[in-house]
Amino acid sequence: MLVTGGAGFIGANFVHRALAARPDLRLTVLDALTYAGNRDNLAEVGDRITFVHGDVRDGDLVDGLVRDCDTVVHFAAESHVDNSLQDPIPFLRTNIEGTFVLLEAVRRHDRRLHHVSTDEVFGSLPLHGGEAFTEETRYDPSSPYSATKAASDLLVRAWARSYGVRATLSNCANNYGPYQNVEKFLPRQITNVLIGRRPKLYGTGENVREWTHVDDHNDAVLLILDAGRVGETYLIGSGAEWSNRALVELTLTLLGRPVDDFDSVPDRPAHDLRYACDSGKIRRELGWRPRWAELPDGLAATIDWYRGNEWWWGPQKAETEARYAAIGR
Ligand code: NAD
Ligand code: TYD
Repeated sequence: MLVTGGAGFIGANFVHRALAARPDLRLTVLDALTYAGNRDNLAEVGDRITFVHGDVRDGDLVDGLVRDCDTVVHFAAESHVDNSLQDPIPFLRTNIEGTFVLLEAVRRHDRRLHHVSTDEVFGSLPLHGGEAFTEETRYDPSSPYSATKAASDLLVRAWARSYGVRATLSNCANNYGPYQNVEKFLPRQITNVLIGRRPKLYGTGENVREWTHVDDHNDAVLLILDAGRVGETYLIGSGAEWSNRALVELTLTLLGRPVDDFDSVPDRPAHDLRYACDSGKIRRELGWRPRWAELPDGLAATIDWYRGNEWWWGPQKAETEARYAAIGR
């Protein structure tokens, strides 16, 4: 198996999970080790994988790696909305061009591909009324990040239809868990409290996200690899919808702080109001169920992980907060 982006948050958790589930698996990670990639994320499995430091846009490198594997799982991406608003270029390069290069190699060597994507490609839902995205929802991305992910999804779908590439796709809701970069919402707030800063809530904090534990996401990917129908898309989401404000309050409570001990900061432009996935298809067809169905349990475990692993997040923290300070958030 070739895993792109396997030194990032979801990819590294996937590598751990896949090796635990499949003792005989031979696995190669291709990762460019951008600011979001970290070899330490793979320290525990270092001798069980082959690690290749390289760019998914490097056609010759990717061709050889794809030739030598059966299955490709594609996580590599630029993944943060706020960064995409500041500088979209790396998003176009990695998310669009990188996926194109990979698709061409997969086509040449007739390999199985699973493409990992996000529910943000569908744009924003109304706050109220209980509507949810389905596999048929029209694409309507709001940010440079989600637009480039949407483009990559469409390339995968077109390569499946035009060239018969054996691909599946998944669009998952917001993830949380160990090894998530401190630029993202939950690790940012947890580590802020741990270093004595106040959490930072964008705008009114009424925006709603559906929070899915990274292990539940990766279990879904493993199920799709085993039993998913080629050419199909599967939406993945736990059903746990929380407003950002409620989640900041829960985080503060779990860390023993008063619920109003946070700062409101200026809102993100084009800030999608609500995401929610109808994951009925993967539940019915593949029997997927989130194990971390209760967000407070998963959040408490995640807080414990950040508490115990300051060596991991400490070095990212000052630089990340400096980037936020520069944009007033
Ligand atoms: P991440 O930013 O933590 O990790 C991305 C990884 O890709 C890093 O290791 C980075 O070094 C690597 N990478 C970046 N550019 C590369 C390139 N050109 N060549 C090779 N490697 C490169 O991201 P993540 O949160 O783990 O997200 C992984 C995937 O899951 C992405 O495709 C993302 O769109 C998708 N996704 C994320 C979420 C979420 O909540 N984080 C939810 C749904 C889907
Ligand atoms: P984020 O982790 O960036 O994920 P996404 O924007 O891809 O959903 O942010 C999750 C939500 O939290 C989003 O509505 C923006 C908000 N947010 C804050 O309120 N404060 C923060 O410091 C960050 C990083 C995000």
